[in-house]
Amino acid sequence: MARRLIVGITGASGALYAVRFLKAALEAGLRLDVIASGYGLRLLAEECGLNLKSDNFGDWLDRTYDRTDRPGSMTLHPAGDQGAEIASGSGPMAGMVVIPCSMKTLSGIARGTATNLIERAADVTLKERRRLILVPRETPLNLAHIENMRAVTLAGGSIVPAMPAFYQKPRTLEDLADFIAGRVLSLLDEPHELYPAWTGRTTEN
Ligand SMILES: Cc1cc2nc3c(=O)[nH]c(=O)nc-3n(C[C@H](O)[C@H](O)[C@H](O)COP(=O)(O)O)c2cc1C
Repeated sequence: MARRLIVGITGASGALYAVRFLKAALEAGLRLDVIASGYGLRLLAEECGLNLKSDNFGDWLDRTYDRTDRPGSMTLHPAGDQGAEIASGSGPMAGMVVIPCSMKTLSGIARGTATNLIERAADVTLKERRRLILVPRETPLNLAHIENMRAVTLAGGSIVPAMPAFYQKPRTLEDLADFIAGRVLSLLDEPHELYPAWTGRTTEN
């Protein structure tokens, strides 16, 4: 049976991280339960030209990038619906990723306030001791941001900052976003070929 993963998309800049992660996770065959906040939807539209509510995501990917085999599946949940199945810990979920993660959602998760389905599902993921991976994007950071990342880490979550590396010689924005998507998939023990493994040597140009 396909592994089931919750993906939260919030209103931090870097909507491309979400797009490339969703694409890679669908290619890896994962069954995705996706929740986008209002600002998450806005930034997907403004930065990537994707209307996640009305566009067919598979068709949009085919139009925007190369056509690929995507055995996974995706369900979009309204962020206001805290009665969704994924608001409870009884479902068989592998874990949750919030990509990109705003400082506001980071704070809600760190404090356990659960004001929407993204924060509630993250809360549940932590209490069930499942994998929670946050990809925060903000710069510079204030002390509240740092303390909230500390609190999530102490609660068992992983902070994977949107800090792509350059040693793989990225040529496109997609290469940069794929580096972060790949780091997240690796933490979930999902194999991928988003970038070559580091061999200890930089490649020649
Ligand atoms: C164009 C734009 C870019 C933004 N970029 C960021 C960002 O990079 N990081 C961040 O923490 N918030 C950013 N924000 C602010 C958040 O969207 C805002 O705090 C919002 O309340 C987050 O709500 P959400 O976490 O429910 O999506 C941005 C807002 C806009 C409109």
